[in-house]
Amino acid sequence: MGPWVLLLAGLLLCPAGVSTNPPNIILIFADDMGYGDLGVYGHPTSHTPNLDSMAAKGLRFTNFYTTGAVCSPSRASLLTGRFQTRSGVYPGVFYPSSVGGLPLSEVTIAEVLHSRGYVTAMAGKWHLGLGLNGTFLPTRQGFQHFLGVPYSHDQGPCQNLICFPPDTRCYGTCDLGETLLPVFIDEQILQQPVNFTELVPIYEQFSKSFIQRAVEQNKPFFLYYAAHHTHYPQFASARYTGKSIRGKYGDALLEFDGTVGDLLMAVWDLGIQNNTLFIFTSDNGPETMRKERGGASGILKCGKSTTYEGGLREPAIMYWEGKIKPGVTSELASTLDILPTVAALAGAKLPNVTLDGYDLSKLLLKGDKSPRNTFYYYPPTIDPNRGIHALRMGKYKAHFYTQGAFHSETTPDPDCHITALLTEHNPPLLFDLDTDPAENYNLLKPFIPKDLEPILTEILNERDRFHQSMNYAPSETNKGKDPSLRPCCNPECTPKPSCCHCSVPSVNEL
Ligand SMILES: *[C@@H]1O[C@H](CO)[C@@H](O)[C@H](O)[C@H]1NC(C)=O
Ligand SMILES: *[C@@H]1O[C@H](CO)[C@@H](O)[C@H](O)[C@H]1NC(C)=O
Ligand SMILES: *[C@@H]1O[C@H](CO)[C@@H](O)[C@H](O)[C@H]1NC(C)=O
Ligand SMILES: *[C@@H]1O[C@H](CO)[C@@H](O)[C@H](O)[C@H]1NC(C)=O
Repeated sequence: MGPWVLLLAGLLLCPAGVSTNPPNIILIFADDMGYGDLGVYGHPTSHTPNLDSMAAKGLRFTNFYTTGAVCSPSRASLLTGRFQTRSGVYPGVFYPSSVGGLPLSEVTIAEVLHSRGYVTAMAGKWHLGLGLNGTFLPTRQGFQHFLGVPYSHDQGPCQNLICFPPDTRCYGTCDLGETLLPVFIDEQILQQPVNFTELVPIYEQFSKSFIQRAVEQNKPFFLYYAAHHTHYPQFASARYTGKSIRGKYGDALLEFDGTVGDLLMAVWDLGIQNNTLFIFTSDNGPETMRKERGGASGILKCGKSTTYEGGLREPAIMYWEGKIKPGVTSELASTLDILPTVAALAGAKLPNVTLDGYDLSKLLLKGDKSPRNTFYYYPPTIDPNRGIHALRMGKYKAHFYTQGAFHSETTPDPDCHITALLTEHNPPLLFDLDTDPAENYNLLKPFIPKDLEPILTEILNERDRFHQSMNYAPSETNKGKDPSLRPCCNPECTPKPSCCHCSVPSVNEL
């Protein structure tokens, strides 16, 4: 083939503006980290130099939303670009013995990018199902390599975690009746129980060798790094333990930030920073029920499991050296938008399904306005008859229902607590999030001002339109549990689950 043929082939294959050299994507997802937890988002005692520096070199979002105020639904939406209602990942979350999982018919970012020639890997917390013989593991959803725990690290006895000695304040227990927490490599159990002090170092080593191999093979790569930090209970490896002034939470955050620093450094050392997009955000708001061992939503109201801003608005940073102009944006964006955005940047085909996300590539590369003007807030316990609990349109947010949550206990605001029962609001509560991001001042009390009638009508119409257009897939989380599905490295052993105990390889042997 002559050069002209190659050039022509390039033009035919690639939509305008898309590079023939698709960017590497590193998607870093934190766990239960609140809007107010990072130094760069204003926390006075967090030490997050690497995330702060990524924010200084990249684009930092102040109106970025996740779709689920708890783990599994939020992750389902992130990876599919669709509300969790469409994949059935609601209500609540998956357990080690859950029969359901993210349906294999769903198309993930990993599948979209793999079909465009990317090599793909995931490190960390999955939480989208395990199933019979690993039916729902990441390796069945487009990830060629997986190292991690298939669910949350408190969904096991937390045998060697820092809740001990017992006189330390932990504010909770782990799931003591569950099987010991496993670490998987692809579909095999590598270690059971997890050794928390070496977990993050193993993830880092795995991630860095994956990146290195991809570069050697001259392949674009997609790395999904889903941290356990800073979900309860807090832990950190020796390098970070006792090193922060913010206690156990601060140490875990410091370790997470250290990983971000190591990934940034790996990319720079390999000289691929000009062709690598970093995306960082978190799955849902902070678990304030853990008091000083939970996160912080900063100025925002309440936290995890609520549809107040603290439940779903998250810190988010996108960094691509030389391509994304550094700055801060208050444009609306969501985890839903990541799949369409990276597909556009990679020149990959979108799946033939209803997507809820928008392509933000022009916002990233040209500083254009966001194509997103609305956001829809689902609670953890989705009821298709009620639908969304709140809707944001531009700067206005209307609450149709409010409800406090166990996860958002302990802060002084009673609206956040479990005792704040499900309440319908008709007319809705209406807040101007530009002037009142803390949702303090209901604009429709004591009366509906004339000038707000048009926007209220528009919001109610949009709620109806969204409600009509939503197809609720049958619930995967309600498919029941089967104790025999609990992962065990030693399947024939008795008595379960305590016999599921396998020798612990050290990091150096990997
Ligand atoms: C699951 O794996 C076990 C052991 O390898 C095997 O006996 C069984 O047939 C598998 N079940 C299914 C449904 O694939
Ligand atoms: C856990 O890992 C650390 C660091 O590698 C090691 O010192 C420790 O012995 C391990 N613990 C167990 C129970 O294997
Ligand atoms: C990265 O891009 C900058 C300008 O955008 C250029 O000066 C630099 O040489 C590039 N570095 C590499 C490693 O390509
Ligand atoms: C997309 O899916 C719809 C409905 O499933 C189908 O009718 C249509 O042919 C598909 N389009 C393509 C291009 O595959």
